[in-house]
Amino acid sequence: MTEGSAGVIFSVPYEIAVVRPLRQTTVDERDAALRAAFYNSELVPQEMIYLDLSTDSGVSALSTHQLAALSAAPTVEPGMGLATEGSRSFASLEAQVKENFGFPYLVATTQGRSAERIWTKLNVKPNTVVLGNMLFPSTRTHIEMNGAKIIDVIGDAAHDFTSPEPFKGNVDFEKLQAAIREHGAENISCIYVELSVNGCGGHPVSLGNLQAVREVASRQRIPLFLDACRILENSYLIQAREPRYQKQSLREIVLETCALADGATMSALKDLLVSSGGLILTRDQTSYQKALMQSFLDGVQPPGSAMELMATALREIFAAESYVAGRVEQVNYLWRRLSDGVPVVGPPAGHAVFIDVNKFLPDMAVEHFPVEALAAFIYQRSGIRVTKGPPAAPSQAARGIRLLRLAVPARKYLQGHLDDVAAALRYAFAHRNEIRGLSKINDPTRSKYAPARFTLL
Ligand code: F0G
Repeated sequence: MTEGSAGVIFSVPYEIAVVRPLRQTTVDERDAALRAAFYNSELVPQEMIYLDLSTDSGVSALSTHQLAALSAAPTVEPGMGLATEGSRSFASLEAQVKENFGFPYLVATTQGRSAERIWTKLNVKPNTVVLGNMLFPSTRTHIEMNGAKIIDVIGDAAHDFTSPEPFKGNVDFEKLQAAIREHGAENISCIYVELSVNGCGGHPVSLGNLQAVREVASRQRIPLFLDACRILENSYLIQAREPRYQKQSLREIVLETCALADGATMSALKDLLVSSGGLILTRDQTSYQKALMQSFLDGVQPPGSAMELMATALREIFAAESYVAGRVEQVNYLWRRLSDGVPVVGPPAGHAVFIDVNKFLPDMAVEHFPVEALAAFIYQRSGIRVTKGPPAAPSQAARGIRLLRLAVPARKYLQGHLDDVAAALRYAFAHRNEIRGLSKINDPTRSKYAPARFTLL
C-alpha cells in the first residue's frame, strides 16, 4: 500500500478464493524422484514439486470472473470457422482487444507459437533478413523455417549482467542501420521487437527506443512487428523507469506501444492469465483475412471458452492496473532478496529472476552441465523446481552465457513462497562446493528434442 493524493493506493486487487494443497516431501523422497527423473528437474513429476518456477506461461491462477465466464461459455459451440462475426466469445474478445491494444483486426489462436507460425508465413519471405532483439526460440524457428536469416540487433548491454542500464531489451541503433545498409531495405522482411526480452533476463524495451525504430522502419518501408506477450510488464517498467511516462496510465502506455507497430503476435499464456490462447494483431485488412483463413486451415482457432477467458482477463487487468504493479514488484522482491548474496542478472525485470550460472559455479566444467546440475541440487535440497528457461540465443551461446531462470507465475505464489525460494537459492550458493556435475546419457532411441537424461558424477 502506498500513499497517494486521495489517501492510500491498494497494492493487490484480489484475494485468494481457492487453494491447492502442496505435498511436503522428504529429502529421501526427492532423491528417489530425482534419480527416477534422470537428474533433469524438468522431468520430476509435478506431484513431487513444492514450488514450480519452471515457467510463468499458462500456470497463473484464474479469477472468480474467469471461472464464471468459463461456466457461462457455451460448452458445445461450433468451431469459429471463418464467420468470426457470428461468434459471441470472439465478439467479447474483439471488443477488449480493440479497446486496450488499439489494433483494428485480430485473429485468435491457440498459442503464441501458432500465431507466429501464421504471421511469419505471411510476412517473412525466403532469402530475406529479419532484424530482431534476441527473439524467442519459437519466433526464431518460424522465421528460419520460411527461409530467412535473423540478425540480432539488440544492444550489447543485454549481455552485461551487472550494468544498471534500465532498458537492456532496446534495439541498438548502429546495428540496426548497419544491417539495413548491408542488406538493403528491400531484402528485409520485417523488424520484430520482443517486449520484455525473455532470453536475456526479461529486460524491457523503452518507448523512446521503439519510437526511433518506428521512424527508421517508416523511412525505409520495413514493417515493424512486436512479440507482445509480456507487454504489461514492459509497460509497467516504462512507467517506472522512463521519466516521460511516469504520469501515464498503463493502458495509455500499452496503447502507445501498440500504435508504433504494424502488427503483433502474442501468446496469451503470460499476461492474459490463461492456459491456452494467442493473438495476431494487425492494421492490414488483407493480412487479417489471410491469417484468419490460415488459422482455420491449421486448426488453431481457440474454443469459445479460451476467448472468454482472455476477454475477461483484459477487462479485469485494465480495471485495476495495480495488479500489474503487484506482479512486477513481486518479481522485484525476489530479486532484492537474492541480489546481495547470489549472482543474479540485473536490473530486475518483470516475469523472472535470472541466475548467472557461470558466476554461481565458476569451477564446474561446461561438459558437466552446470545449469542442470544446479537445478537438480536446488530441487533435491528444497523441492523447488527451476529450469534453464529458453535455450540460449546464438549471440549468447557465442559468449558462453549460461542462465538459470526463476520464472514467477502471475497471481500464484505468496511472499512466503518467494522467501522460501530465496532461502533455497542462498543455501545452494553457500553450499555450492557440494554441487555435483552431471553426465549426459546418450540414448539413440530418444529424439534429440526430448528432455536430456543424466547420471550424477
Ligand atoms: N514469445 C515469447 C517471448 C515467449 O516467452 C513464448 C513462450 C512465446 C513467444 C511462445 O508462446 O508458449 O504460447 O506458444 N514462452 C514460454 C516460457 C514457453 O516459458 O517462457 P506460446
